[in-house]
Amino acid sequence: MPNRVTIDTERTIAPIDRNLFGGFAEHLGRCIYGGIFEPGSPLADERGLRTDVLAALQRLRMPVMRYPGGNFVSGYRWRDGVGPLEERPTRMELAWHDLEPNSFGTNEFVDFCRALGSAPYLAVNAGDGDMREARDWLEYCNGSKDTAFVKLRKQHGYEAPHGVKYWGIGNEVDGPWQIGFKTAEEYARAYAEYAKVMKWTDPSVMLLASAVSLWQPSWVERVQLLMEHAASQIDYMAIHWYVGNDAKRGYRDDDFASYMAISEKMEDMLSATEGIIRAMSSALKLEHDIPIAVDEWNVWYRVHNEGKLEEVYNLEDALVVAMHFNAFIRHAHSVKMANIAQIVNVIAPILTRSDGMVLQTIFHPFEIYSRTCGDTALDVHWSGDTFSTPEFDALRVLDVSATLDTKARKIAVYLVNRSESASSETTIELGNARFAGPVTSHVVNGPGVKASNTFETPGSVGVREHSLAATGRSLTLMLEPHSVTALVCDIA
Ligand code: AHR
Repeated sequence: MPNRVTIDTERTIAPIDRNLFGGFAEHLGRCIYGGIFEPGSPLADERGLRTDVLAALQRLRMPVMRYPGGNFVSGYRWRDGVGPLEERPTRMELAWHDLEPNSFGTNEFVDFCRALGSAPYLAVNAGDGDMREARDWLEYCNGSKDTAFVKLRKQHGYEAPHGVKYWGIGNEVDGPWQIGFKTAEEYARAYAEYAKVMKWTDPSVMLLASAVSLWQPSWVERVQLLMEHAASQIDYMAIHWYVGNDAKRGYRDDDFASYMAISEKMEDMLSATEGIIRAMSSALKLEHDIPIAVDEWNVWYRVHNEGKLEEVYNLEDALVVAMHFNAFIRHAHSVKMANIAQIVNVIAPILTRSDGMVLQTIFHPFEIYSRTCGDTALDVHWSGDTFSTPEFDALRVLDVSATLDTKARKIAVYLVNRSESASSETTIELGNARFAGPVTSHVVNGPGVKASNTFETPGSVGVREHSLAATGRSLTLMLEPHSVTALVCDIA
């Protein structure tokens, strides 16, 4: 059956927040040390930042970067990571059972963000930390009055405030694995108190509540209680998820169709979260919107490489990353931030060695979406071939989203062909516009769904670009099996 995608540039969903293309760096494995920071390496600059990694990350155009964890933050003392290097203590790190030398901390992170062009987003310790520590950290970073913490920052070489706008209160506090795990009631109360003193310290900050990472029935009560206790102090409701081609965590199942159907789970988690926020906002007569921040998401198999959590991704994982962006674009009315976890080595689009790095398969869809995404999400209608899995019936083979660049009058149409073996003949129809010139097609693909990029085969999965002639209102093309295609074109 031919596939048909209908686009009307006046049928919009919402403005797209660029923060959908955010990142996350944690003190975990080789993300910081040996990833972004490697003093003494011939590849590092005078600050110790790996220049090859910086250049690759710049291609991803991440507008916001979350730090320092993750589970790590629930045992972190920010003061250990500022000031003269020789005075910084090495600590036992209990979240990941490692040693933390603290040679990279707040100021190094802010420098890294400036080099990248990302806004820093700090998560505070709501595990074994307290609100005093959180508020002091905020004052150290953002304060401009003549206080002890501001003097300390200046002594450390940072005269001007860092102006950190985004602050998360805790991380995955709903998980028993977390240092300082909290019941729904405990976190809702703690959130309200942290938020109060943090907003008093700097009223301009945006606060993120750590709502859901454990998708068990109690998540509904967590969001509800948070809203009851603190709705007026919540700027974002943060949720996390990780997915994989695995029925059980930790190994690949090779059930390609079920893996491709993960889009339904993402839809479900987003729609359900939207629903409960909306229901509670209405009940509480809340005067501001609470958007969703998916501030950790990715494919994750929990593979250990010499004791470090490092994944080698394949093409099917890249399709799933593209489907995440399609879901975020389709939910642009509610999802206003998303942070891929993480950026280097640990669950990441980039893998390093001391002498170089490799771009993983998932790097490519991220780069294309981030580079070509417009400012407005379009409400696309599409129909065509279907597939079924033990769990779902008649899912569309294509997974689609589209955006409009309102100033440049450009549309970008993103199509994931979830067939492992068949090309999909697809017609794009513009309802109220016509193509005004050739269409640039960016295709992510490789020899098969298990193809990976490694140091030995760095270009196995890559991007090809071509130009397609298009006139009038419709364009028909063949979408390759197991591929992501981004069509970018001027319209009139
Ligand atoms: O990103 C890796 C870990 O996944 C984070 O530390 C934690 O928040 C989540 O469980």
